[in-house]
Amino acid sequence: MIKHYTPRMTKEQVKLLRTWHDENYQSQKASLPKQLCFMGLDLNIRNDVFAPDVDDETGNPFHRAVEAEVKPGERVLDMGTGSGVSGILAARKGARVVAVDINPNAIECARQNADHNNVADRITFAVSDIFDEVEGDFDLIVFDPPFRWFKPRDMLEASTADEDYRGLTRFINETKDRLRSNGRVLLNFATSADIDYLHSLIDTAGLQKKATQYGELTKGDFTARYYIIRLTRRWAPISARRRGSTSLARPT
Ligand SMILES: C[S@@+](CC[C@H](N)C(=O)[O-])C[C@H]1O[C@@H](n2cnc3c(N)ncnc32)[C@H](O)[C@@H]1O
Repeated sequence: MIKHYTPRMTKEQVKLLRTWHDENYQSQKASLPKQLCFMGLDLNIRNDVFAPDVDDETGNPFHRAVEAEVKPGERVLDMGTGSGVSGILAARKGARVVAVDINPNAIECARQNADHNNVADRITFAVSDIFDEVEGDFDLIVFDPPFRWFKPRDMLEASTADEDYRGLTRFINETKDRLRSNGRVLLNFATSADIDYLHSLIDTAGLQKKATQYGELTKGDFTARYYIIRLTRRWAPISARRRGSTSLARPT
């Protein structure tokens, strides 16, 4: 059951993040539609679909990490696919991909981008609220989730705002059951979100995390730090296996 969410930060920080969020939303909205070319991709981004931040033609650290993590033949879930970017990168490396998003226009946009980038035959698309329409388990699940817990005003804002972290909470609670024994999750997250809440969800779900900082951004007197968080199952010690624990044991 999802407990009521309360931000784990001061009122001043919440106020500052609200301002930061509104500015980002307005500038994202004003910049759409647009075409982005990076990492050898050519993406058309529709009006109410999230446009990834890209530094230059090398893209951004999260998408480079996704590309580096995928192995040919793996089954990959691109949760919240948006323009399709991560799913297309995974398919290009020879993965079989399921790409889902709560926004039907994002799915249409991602489908067209997959076709345009010649990987449509390796990606299955579905409109889905988190795992609702997803079947089976995966070697790799990637998710660049909405950072804020505010109520979104429209589908574009649902890219960056997830009311009371309902979607994020469900994702972390349910993701372990969707991982194969070698399964990994790659998440993009930041301290401009409630990262302490995310860590508590991860710990409660019994997942093992490794966070790698890849950048920081200062606005006024607030500095946000950005992380790629890699999750795996937490393995039970051998003694727990002997006692017949239902936890997973590390494969030999
Ligand atoms: C920050 S954007 C990332 C988009 C894309 N993956 C990328 O890297 O550019 C977050 C995406 O998650 C989707 N999303 C938000 N809540 C969701 C939910 N409950 N279920 C599925 N997708 C969701 C949004 O529509 C949006 O496309």
